[in-house]
Amino acid sequence: MSLSIKNAEEITKKLGQVIYVAGTQWGDEGKGKLVDILSGEYDLIARSAGGANAGHTICVKDPETGESKKFVFHLLPSGVLREDKVSVIGNGTVVHVPTLLDEINGLKEQGIDISGRLVISDRAHMIFEYHKIIDGIQEERKGDNKVGTTKRGIGPCYADKSSRIGIRMGDLKDFNAFAERLRKNAERHMKVYGFDFDIEQEINIYRDAAEIMEPFVKNTTEYLCNAHSEGKTILAEGAQGTHLDIDIGTYPFVTSSNTTSGGAATGLGFPPNKIESVIGIAKAYTTRVGAGPFPTELNNQEGEMLRDAGGEYGATTGRPRRCGWFDAVVVKNAVMINGINSINLTKLDVLSGMKSIKIGTKYTLDGEEVKFIPASLEEFERVEVEYEEFEGWDEDLSDARSFDDLPENAKKYVLRLEEVIGAPINFIGVGVNRDEIIYR
Ligand code: GDP
Ligand code: IMO
Ligand code: MG
Repeated sequence: MSLSIKNAEEITKKLGQVIYVAGTQWGDEGKGKLVDILSGEYDLIARSAGGANAGHTICVKDPETGESKKFVFHLLPSGVLREDKVSVIGNGTVVHVPTLLDEINGLKEQGIDISGRLVISDRAHMIFEYHKIIDGIQEERKGDNKVGTTKRGIGPCYADKSSRIGIRMGDLKDFNAFAERLRKNAERHMKVYGFDFDIEQEINIYRDAAEIMEPFVKNTTEYLCNAHSEGKTILAEGAQGTHLDIDIGTYPFVTSSNTTSGGAATGLGFPPNKIESVIGIAKAYTTRVGAGPFPTELNNQEGEMLRDAGGEYGATTGRPRRCGWFDAVVVKNAVMINGINSINLTKLDVLSGMKSIKIGTKYTLDGEEVKFIPASLEEFERVEVEYEEFEGWDEDLSDARSFDDLPENAKKYVLRLEEVIGAPINFIGVGVNRDEIIYR
């Protein structure tokens, strides 16, 4: 618990040459904001898992007008605004090329050119329109048991990968062979799921796209390992959150990839023992979008207050996020699973004005303490949560730049959180903008 970070310049010295930023809850913790901040200190910023189901928001104030400009990234890593940094999209991700091109072109329109500083793994699997159609059909067929996916085709694409019928970025090199694979794959899915789909139109979309993508597609393991040997610093940016991990999360209400630090290694094809630190991002309360258990959920006015104050609407789908109190068991589990040695507590400012604030500190099931989230959702849904209650504060926190600037009640809340989750809170978010952060 002794780690302290006084300023951005200390980060690589204290956390190391390679770090992973992991969501500790159910996604949308504010990973994008910290990755954007830290990317000032790291040379390469890499996404290791997920696809355009992610929505990472960055807000940067114009130094002259003070006006805040908002960017949302789905596939590009959140370091992309820093023009001297390289973005890497790793083998563990699933890439919808048209979405990626939209993001690249959107940046170009704002005067940010990514050519020469984007590297995409030749092994990353590709998402096609039919994956999105299948995502919709599967959800429909689940009836009352819908996962509430983002309908971006994530699950069906990873299913093709596991079934060994997927198509990868490297396949674009030989366009005729690529088109043949795509025809075969689409026909197979149309037969199984009974939908119609214009295959030739889809192939045509990729004719130009293949040429545009060509210079970006490389062996990213080789690229990252060489960069590491040369002493370059690497920041791996997690998508989703620990409890959406396909293996560790609240299955089946999860995404289809490994969102935890183990997944960062496999998803980058990079040695796990070279990842020196894991920063966990934890919102000062809890949110979840989509279905699945959520023990500290507030289905009342307090939940609505959190949603309004925190702007809790999905960055990808616009869906209202479910809101609840901070669940220390959830975050403590994430600390253990990911090997988190530093925490960024985000959105502390959102709690200003709440009369009282609670932390869910302990679960019991049939009178026994439950320390680990049970695999059985039936059990997880039955846990009783013990809460500790804290007096709130009214002050606006957005100008706080040191821990001592915080109101006493906010300090008490943070210190207790640190104690119950068992990892040092080195960064505290006090607003949406890049500069609205406390180092500690
Ligand atoms: P991500 O998916 O983990 O990158 O998070 P999202 O971008 O989906 O959602 C986080 C939201 O919270 C975004 O709208 C951010 O601009 C915002 N945010 C991040 N950190 C803070 C903070 O410390 N305070 C406030 N008020 N908003 C924050
Ligand atoms: P970021 O990176 C929050 C959720 C969906 C759904 C489940 C499965 O912005 O934190 P999927 O489309 O992946 O098959 O959906 O996972 N989900 C997210 N929730 N933030 C995300 O990403 C998410 N990505 C997927 O809402 O419940
Ligand atoms: Mg998000």
